[in-house]
Amino acid sequence: MHKPVFAANRDQVTGGVYQSTRHDSGHKHVAGEALYIDDMPEPAGLLHAALGLSHCAHGLIKEIDLSAVKDSPGVELVLTAADVPGVNDVSPSNHHDDPVFAEGKVMFYGQPIFAVIARTRNEARLAVAKAKITYEELPAVLDIAAARKDGQKSGSLDLVAEPMSLNRGDLDAAMAAAPRRIKRSMNLGGQEHFYLESHIALAVPGEDGDVTLYSSTQHPSEIQHAVAHVLDVPSNAITCEIRRMGGGFGGKETQGNIFAAIAALAARRTGQAVKLRPDRDDDMVATGKRHDFVIDYEVGFDDEGHILAVDILFAARCGFSADLSGPVTDRALFHADNAYFYPAVRLNAQPLRTHTVSNTAFRGFGGPQGAIGAERLIEEVAYATGKDPLEIRKLNFYGGPGRDLTPYHQTVEADLSAEIIAKLEASSDYQARRAEIRAENARQNAQGGVFRRGIALTPVKFGISFTNSWQNQAGALVNVYTDGSVSVNHGGTEMGQGLYIKVAQVVAQAFQIDLDMVKITPTTTAKVPNTSPTAASSGTDLNGMAALNACNNIKERMVAYAVEKHGIPADQVEFLPGRVRVGNREIEWPDFVKEVYSNRIQLSSSGFYRTPDIYWDRKAGRGRAFYYYSYGAAASEVTIDTLTGEYRVERVDILHDVGASLNPAIDIGQIEGGFVQGMGWLTTEELWWDNKGRLRTHAPSTYKIPVASDRPRIFNIDLLNKPNHMPSIHRSKAVGEPPLVLPVSVLHALSDAVASIGDHKIFPDLDAPATPERVLFAVEAMRAKVRERSGGHG
Ligand code: MTE
Ligand code: MOS
Repeated sequence: MHKPVFAANRDQVTGGVYQSTRHDSGHKHVAGEALYIDDMPEPAGLLHAALGLSHCAHGLIKEIDLSAVKDSPGVELVLTAADVPGVNDVSPSNHHDDPVFAEGKVMFYGQPIFAVIARTRNEARLAVAKAKITYEELPAVLDIAAARKDGQKSGSLDLVAEPMSLNRGDLDAAMAAAPRRIKRSMNLGGQEHFYLESHIALAVPGEDGDVTLYSSTQHPSEIQHAVAHVLDVPSNAITCEIRRMGGGFGGKETQGNIFAAIAALAARRTGQAVKLRPDRDDDMVATGKRHDFVIDYEVGFDDEGHILAVDILFAARCGFSADLSGPVTDRALFHADNAYFYPAVRLNAQPLRTHTVSNTAFRGFGGPQGAIGAERLIEEVAYATGKDPLEIRKLNFYGGPGRDLTPYHQTVEADLSAEIIAKLEASSDYQARRAEIRAENARQNAQGGVFRRGIALTPVKFGISFTNSWQNQAGALVNVYTDGSVSVNHGGTEMGQGLYIKVAQVVAQAFQIDLDMVKITPTTTAKVPNTSPTAASSGTDLNGMAALNACNNIKERMVAYAVEKHGIPADQVEFLPGRVRVGNREIEWPDFVKEVYSNRIQLSSSGFYRTPDIYWDRKAGRGRAFYYYSYGAAASEVTIDTLTGEYRVERVDILHDVGASLNPAIDIGQIEGGFVQGMGWLTTEELWWDNKGRLRTHAPSTYKIPVASDRPRIFNIDLLNKPNHMPSIHRSKAVGEPPLVLPVSVLHALSDAVASIGDHKIFPDLDAPATPERVLFAVEAMRAKVRERSGGHG
């Protein structure tokens, strides 16, 4: 029999907070033992669903002939919009513009029109191909340029959500008064999430028409609510459970709704369990991605490189519906300062409707797009003034009274940018390496060499909190069993980021028991209701606090019991590793729990937390939108091949602020993963739609995410390890998204290498993704400009 050991170590619990404990599922991930939804034992009679997708980007559906589909072998049921008993909408916003099945017209190539339910997945997929659908094609607006042109023609832009505007100071006057000005624009590509586990939903029908859903989702409560609306049943008829996702990255914050709704609808209709797992291509075609942006900017500055005025318009390709595009473009504006103070500023957004898939959350949630705008300004000012971009960065950091207001009028407190940059500049040996790289490039220029090197050091400052203030809440449920073992449940979901283990560490610490005595249980709407999505990097901040609150409730009852029973003051009860001191007696934890239980004290508690001190007035563009900021910086070095545009990331040094790290191993993993994912976005990952609106990069054959060999040759990651100045959970800081901004240093290092061809006198104008092709074009453009300047005609 397994006998629990509670804190074998009497000095410190094993796996409490601040310890580098392994991910609770790490060993199961690598051994294939971690159960994902497709690994779960299948219920008897399970049916399989497949989606019928639109083959037209924008058009009226003239005729749907599904007779051959229905007659196809193994087919049990075919569903269309006409079969939806409730509302045909799974939109996460109040725009109600995300139909489960397209009705009357289609809005993008790949939009679901019908679903086939068959005995096997293969039969369902084969049947789908037999549909005959005819469309009356309408003009399709596919990208930002087309949406703008269309808006010009019709006199108004078609926006999916009301854009935010941030303003501080008299921008027009400041711009006019600035000694120097630059006005230009840049293109920034989108990104496919490429979670290893694609979307999936398994719906199991129960009594009274109830449905239990196993859904790969970051937002079980929204799955519950959306499915309830589609089925026209109350929320209490739907339960959503998820043990883990094989990656979400924001792609499963809202985009799982449609799969869950279709599986649930099919389960209700057939009375049998139904699984819907799109294959990779369908997942890529039919689900939203990171928004690509066009950033139009004007910056006013002086000869030293002080930024005086900033005017930026962020245009985003949102796709056919609102989804989260409102909040995503908001967050772009919130991060358009990155780490810099703008004396006068005007920031606007254009969330443009296009006839493409509806874009959604993706790690950083628009923040990285905003920060890239800021870094682009820095680069412009650096080339214009002939200074090292790092010098311009330092000149423009936030800095004390008079220079501490963000464009949204929040005061920046406890700013760590300057400290982090100074430390990283030294530890990465930036100055010496830069000098050496410059000298080497000059030699290559003189000798007509092929390779050029580049280096850049860029910061990140990332606001932590949902900007929808009401979402900053969380619940938890903690049970202590009579043998002393503990289970914890909370509203957060596990997608590989290590939320479960961090919250378990908090619970182990609270009760002073070893981590392996804390059972982490799957997230379910039946245990903790009305939860927020696991997003905005705030999973641990919110759920860790809620779990701690639940533990404290139980501990308070335990203490109250001991005070009453043994007649001692409360401060004579102390939770020590594996035991509890009651007066001058030390009682082993399991014995103490048993004693408390026998005296009829409740050993289970819910917990709750809401983030204090935040408020946001979106109309006015003012407030304390963020509880605090997470900081970091990276120095990246690259080599480019000027004949092919190919490149290699030679070395990356990162210094990142995670407050007092709850788990340094997990946090470093998040920084590493976030960096590489962001590097992919800014370098090799390129989404390509043809002029019919068909996504042509819908598989790993054509869509290039970073692989092991793309990892920086040298990759040094350090934590700042400075406790959060705000009372967050054990003074830690959020880590999930901020590191995604760090690889801007790779983009700028590539720029630096390109610029070396013109002795750093000409702005390299490199857009993202900086694919080898784009680097090559930038090299060619640079060579042409050099020839032009020297008056040559080569
Ligand atoms: N890390 C892994 N391994 N897998 C993921 O899907 N998602 C990221 C980040 N890190 C993700 C990840 C995103 S988009 C967010 S918002 C946070 O994790 C969410 O989790 P947290 O709030 O617990 O940090
Ligand atoms: Mo993360 S983009 O907030 O899910």
